Amino acid sequence: MDEKIDRILISEDEIRDRVEQLAASISQDYQDRGPVVLIGVLKGSFIFLADLARRLTIPRVVEFIAVSSYEHGDTRSGAVRLIMDVRDSIEDKHVLIVEDIVDSGHTLHYLLDMLQSRRPASLKSCALLRKAERAEVDVTVDYVGFEIADEWVVGYGLDYSERGRTLPYIGVIAT
Ligand code: PRP
Repeated sequence: MDEKIDRILISEDEIRDRVEQLAASISQDYQDRGPVVLIGVLKGSFIFLADLARRLTIPRVVEFIAVSSYEHGDTRSGAVRLIMDVRDSIEDKHVLIVEDIVDSGHTLHYLLDMLQSRRPASLKSCALLRKAERAEVDVTVDYVGFEIADEWVVGYGLDYSERGRTLPYIGVIAT
């Protein structure tokens, strides 16, 4: 185990099982609707998106988007900025935003607003993790893998200073 990891919060097996369940509900909800456009939010979602996309049993298209939060020292202002857009139009398409984590909710709120203005046929969101107690804006997450407490977590796409992203589990950082 990485020396900075205090303990494993969600094991590799637990993640695999939950991703399988999420993929089954999404596949059921979107069946007969045409392809779903999965928009992975970089960088954190890349592993979750890869696993989720491969377990879906419906037609799907993969896109990526990148955003950045403005930071002042250790705190985030809540303002979000687009760094990289999706490649194709989403007009009249069924879109599912795929996030690794919803924390304050500002990132997802920004993305839902921005993508909705492009008139998709439908727009929903899926996050592997959600820290409900950290919410600063009211944002709906349609599919949630795990509700977690306010701890600093890494692994399965999430990082601490770009480290730990490829850990196969979600671990809690020792503080
Ligand atoms: C993380 C995560 C979400 C966002 C959630 O990204 O991937 O996109 O923060 O936080 P919020 O709900 O408070 O807006 P981060 O900015 O750490 O970038 P990364 O995905 O490239 O690591």
